[in-house]
Amino acid sequence: MYKRLAAFVAGIAFTATSFSHPDDSHREAPAWFTNATRTIDAQLSKAAEVYIPGQNPRSVTCGTVRLANCRDWTTGFFPGSLWYGYELTGNKALASAAKRFTLALDSIRYVTDTHDLGFMLYCSYGNAWRITKDNTYLPVLQDGAKHLAARFSPKTGVIRSWDFGKWKYPVIIDNMMNLEYLYWAAGQFKQPGYTKIASTHALTTMKNHFRKDYSSYHVVDYDPATGKVLGKGTHQGVTNESAWARGQAWGLYGYAMCYANTKNSAFLNQAKHIAAFIMNHPNMPKDKVPVWDFDVHNAYDVDEDGRAPRDASAAAVIACGLLDLSTEVADGKKYVDYAEDILRSLSSDKYLAGPGENHFFILKHSVGAFLFNSEIDTPINYADYYYLEALKKYAAIKKIKR
Ligand code: GLY
Repeated sequence: MYKRLAAFVAGIAFTATSFSHPDDSHREAPAWFTNATRTIDAQLSKAAEVYIPGQNPRSVTCGTVRLANCRDWTTGFFPGSLWYGYELTGNKALASAAKRFTLALDSIRYVTDTHDLGFMLYCSYGNAWRITKDNTYLPVLQDGAKHLAARFSPKTGVIRSWDFGKWKYPVIIDNMMNLEYLYWAAGQFKQPGYTKIASTHALTTMKNHFRKDYSSYHVVDYDPATGKVLGKGTHQGVTNESAWARGQAWGLYGYAMCYANTKNSAFLNQAKHIAAFIMNHPNMPKDKVPVWDFDVHNAYDVDEDGRAPRDASAAAVIACGLLDLSTEVADGKKYVDYAEDILRSLSSDKYLAGPGENHFFILKHSVGAFLFNSEIDTPINYADYYYLEALKKYAAIKKIKR
């Protein structure tokens, strides 16, 4: 009788912890990973209750939450985090919240004045469609991709990033991230031209954005009439010649993603070189969460380790890029190991919020734009989004049971 009861209880435990991978090929999650997913579930569940669709949590400044409306470049990250949270935890309530927060962004389909359409729509509607295959998400995605592709000029060979500022035709390294949306849309909407646009942008950026050491400029300005490069510099880095940490991360992720979509070896080599620049950088702290710019040498507010503020968002994006790269090469273990170190750090008390803290954001300690005095050492929604994405990628590579 006791034996039968014990077997029954064991059966319940098995069903609850391993419903997505009932076979023996998947292993139990390490304690740090389990603790992280518990926190993620608690924070996202509460955030979905407290925040209002269309007014998405973006960051925290002096104790006040900055909200993102549907014109804000970060607006897709909170719905996207809810979708990833659902995938990581199996909590169906997160999926229904994700749907509400996604659908509130439908007017982004009319936005034409930014390259950020990838961040805004592919992270929200893109994940919604990937997970549910509900075709009602597609018309918004179709319009957004059309508007992103329309920002490409054959003269410059790149998509124009911004419509504001002092530049003539600015292109930022961040723009690499939005190409994933075009590669997907090319197949989904039978628009092979989008693949050509994405790959041309990546090749032109490879030529003009990178220095000899494979660090990248943040902004390259083009002459729209001739395609000539007018200038190279920064917007969010410490100097024009510095390596702004998130910019290096966007480049790494971007080229690993371009290779996954095209199998063009030039993209793979570029991703490997950027990874080497980041991984071997003498200013990378021991916990592998970079300071907001690799070239800041204690010039500004220092943290308890004697370093300037860290950028958890850059670390999370680097982890995603390395995990993607690891699946494309024979010697991928070094990339997985490095990404694991980052994820362990981000999952420690130093960076991971306690349940109920941090205005229900998941990670602490990111930097938006230091020299604009904006979002310094604060939770930011894209740090959370890429942290969840990295955990998902890590779980797939390590075959971790949900
Ligand atoms: N795409 C803007 C940023 O990374 O801050």
